[in-house]
Amino acid sequence: MANILITGGAGFIGQAITRKLSDNPQHHITLIDNLVRGRIDTDLQEILDRPNVQFIQGDVTDMAFFDSLPTNFDYIYHLAAVIGVRNVMEKPDKVLYVNAISTLYLFEYAKRLPNLKRILFSSTSEIYAGTLKHFGIAVPTPETEHLTLDDITSPRTTYMLSKMYGESICFNYGRLYNIPFTVVRYHNVYGPRMGFLHVIPEMFLKIRDNATIDVASPAHTRAFCYIDDAVASTILVTEHDATQAEIINIGNQAQELTIRELVQTIAKVMGKSITINELPDTPGSPARRCPDTAKIKQLTGFEPQVNLEEGVTRMYAWYKDKLDTRHE
Ligand SMILES: NC(=O)c1ccc[n+]([C@@H]2O[C@H](COP(=O)([O-])OP(=O)(O)OC[C@H]3O[C@@H](n4cnc5c(N)ncnc54)[C@H](O)[C@@H]3O)[C@@H](O)[C@H]2O)c1
Repeated sequence: MANILITGGAGFIGQAITRKLSDNPQHHITLIDNLVRGRIDTDLQEILDRPNVQFIQGDVTDMAFFDSLPTNFDYIYHLAAVIGVRNVMEKPDKVLYVNAISTLYLFEYAKRLPNLKRILFSSTSEIYAGTLKHFGIAVPTPETEHLTLDDITSPRTTYMLSKMYGESICFNYGRLYNIPFTVVRYHNVYGPRMGFLHVIPEMFLKIRDNATIDVASPAHTRAFCYIDDAVASTILVTEHDATQAEIINIGNQAQELTIRELVQTIAKVMGKSITINELPDTPGSPARRCPDTAKIKQLTGFEPQVNLEEGVTRMYAWYKDKLDTRHE
């Protein structure tokens, strides 16, 4: 029997991790979310109906809320955060507040958990963006790259700063109070139920409605990681002895491909014939972005299983009849 707490459990990755973990009746799972972004839709409701899943609507920036929780958790997945380019540009104060305070309070709370085996902290590939922009970076990018903050005056910097701060909390609270943790840096996770403010769902709409598709930076490469691979690797590193106090890139290095190829794959999955109108490179857009995932393979043996075409096929099956009811 394992007691598991998932913050941000109504969100994209949190819900998918809960679905997988709750397949095991030996897991008793408590989801926390304030529903600022996550939604109790039919997918989440189906999980909440399972006997081993409990939902608590609560705010992880409220210490009194943590005080009200039981202290018998074995594993905590900390996924609650304010994310997304629009939020970051419009509400940088929320990014700084929620992402920093929630992690501080979680680790304060964790000091009192006698059974705790691991906190999983969800960081981001965005953390490498300052080094990439100002000094250049190895691509594929390993976890050992030094981190550089971008322009401190810019709202955009708040997200990477908040995640660097969160990683620092992990290492320093972890060391001082003997709190076990693992940091994962997610790279372009995609799949069903991720909202519409993302390149792949946006392309579903554009390709459905147009025969000619404008594509900026067509030769630039990115590596997309299907949600099932992200979930499997997240659970694996949270439970694995070798990943205690480690930083792990989660992504799909083998699936690095050009934006042109991405659009062509999406059109193929949708059964649409399109013409690509290639536009110039977007200023500031890096020519390559791809994680080096040798570390997770070496420590745990994990390798992603889902290639882009298969992932987009599964994703489109979910999105197809929801394109007219888009929400964030
Ligand atoms: N999706 C990706 O590709 C990606 C990439 C890099 C990092 N991450 C990180 O992974 C984590 C999960 O990402 P996601 O894509 O599932 O995001 P998401 O926005 O879908 O989920 C986050 C959830 O946190 C909840 N939340 C926000 N503030 C809260 C608060 N104060 N109290 C309680 N709940 C709160 C939201 O309602 C939402 O349901 C985040 O920490 C994010 O930074 C994700």
